[in-house]
Amino acid sequence: MDYRIILPEKDMPKQWFNILPDLSPPLAPPLDPATGQPLGPEKLATIFPMAVIEQEMSPHRWIDIPQPVWDIYRLYRPTPLVRAHRLEAALGTKARIYYKNESLSPAGSHKPNTAIAQAYYNKMEGVRRLTTETGAGQWGTALSFACKMFGMQCTVYMVRCSYEQKPYRGVLIRSYGAEVFPSPSPRTAAGRAVLAENPDSGGSLGLAISEAVEDAATHEDAKYSLGSVLNHVLLHQTITGLETQKQLAMAGEKPDVLVGCVGGGSNFGGLILPFVPQKMAGKGPRLVAVEPKACPTLTKGEFRYDYGDMAKMTPLLKMHTLGSGYFPPPIHAGGLRYHGDAPILSHLVNQGLVESTSYFQTEVFEAARFFLQNEGFLPAPETAHAVKAVMDVARKSDPGTVIVFLYSGHGLLDLGAYDAFNQGNLKDDEFAEEDIRKALASCPQVGF
Ligand SMILES: Cc1ncc(COP(=O)(O)O)c(C=O)c1O
Repeated sequence: MDYRIILPEKDMPKQWFNILPDLSPPLAPPLDPATGQPLGPEKLATIFPMAVIEQEMSPHRWIDIPQPVWDIYRLYRPTPLVRAHRLEAALGTKARIYYKNESLSPAGSHKPNTAIAQAYYNKMEGVRRLTTETGAGQWGTALSFACKMFGMQCTVYMVRCSYEQKPYRGVLIRSYGAEVFPSPSPRTAAGRAVLAENPDSGGSLGLAISEAVEDAATHEDAKYSLGSVLNHVLLHQTITGLETQKQLAMAGEKPDVLVGCVGGGSNFGGLILPFVPQKMAGKGPRLVAVEPKACPTLTKGEFRYDYGDMAKMTPLLKMHTLGSGYFPPPIHAGGLRYHGDAPILSHLVNQGLVESTSYFQTEVFEAARFFLQNEGFLPAPETAHAVKAVMDVARKSDPGTVIVFLYSGHGLLDLGAYDAFNQGNLKDDEFAEEDIRKALASCPQVGF
């Protein structure tokens, strides 16, 4: 039995899969924060290009991948689907475990799959600079890479605690030619407001988004780009699930369980969405979303309208949320510290099609070390959440169960976190019930 199932380059999908037309009831619309009414495309046009806005609401099931995007994908796609034989043996399981290795992209994660597409559409509409936030630094790296591919500038607001935890992410972002600032920063009104209250704030993804949106909205030549949560991001990520379907067919396998970690929902969404129509027909695999106990959006959040950012500048989205003012503890999985979740994923959880589970960071790092010592690859702390859940599922599974997970990124720039873990210095923060209660109390009340 092969270890790596390699899809020939010519068989890389030429279209992304859009789940929106399959959703019934349909997804709740984004709302204008000023009026509480559904938002028209023109309102989004100050920060996003029209092609992306159309994809956000597209009624078409299949959307062509533009040739220039497909050509850049060829730098690292198709990615291998790997049978984790050694992990299976070490666990003593008769389940068959596969992982889709997205850590082999230039940035080291799945994030370029949408960064390349978004940079392309912006370039086509004459945008010269993209602004964005980053938590773990993976998204900021991916967008810096993508902007360089299309000759554009890129400004990244990186959550301060991650900026300090992993300085080499900043080095890589700058090496791609982009600029990166710790958030909260004095460059924006949103950043200055937080700094005035707490000069030592470690920041949050919700705040970094506010800074990046404000920067784009106040500069003519710039637009904003988001690395997760929105429909078009999950759409671009479906390339991973579509490739996985072809690779499983090559291996003669049918998946029983699909697993992924969830920050805003893009890597997990990309893997599972092509399987959802089957799931809706009652025939699909179990779909398991994994998150940290320090930021338990799907497991403990409320499904309701909320802002996407802390300064309340973004449209209101109906999603699982802990409240946009929630500052999660500074766990090392910086990419899983977002207060909300993709509306598509939240909808599927609400419909009972997707399960969710959560873990403490120490048990997650233990799983990551186990994976490293058996499979040889060092997972990103975010990815390690999926690894931990897969190990738990495999231990309880019947022989022959096929488990597939999205290996979303490598941890080679997270060595500070691994060092803290090796030295026994990791803290297991759970969410603070009181903080979440307060943050949820400030969610908007809307009639929808
Ligand atoms: C390696 C990795 N995995 C997962 C995530 C979580 O994001 P998402 O839920 O959008 O896939 C991130 C976010 O930064 C990441 O860097």
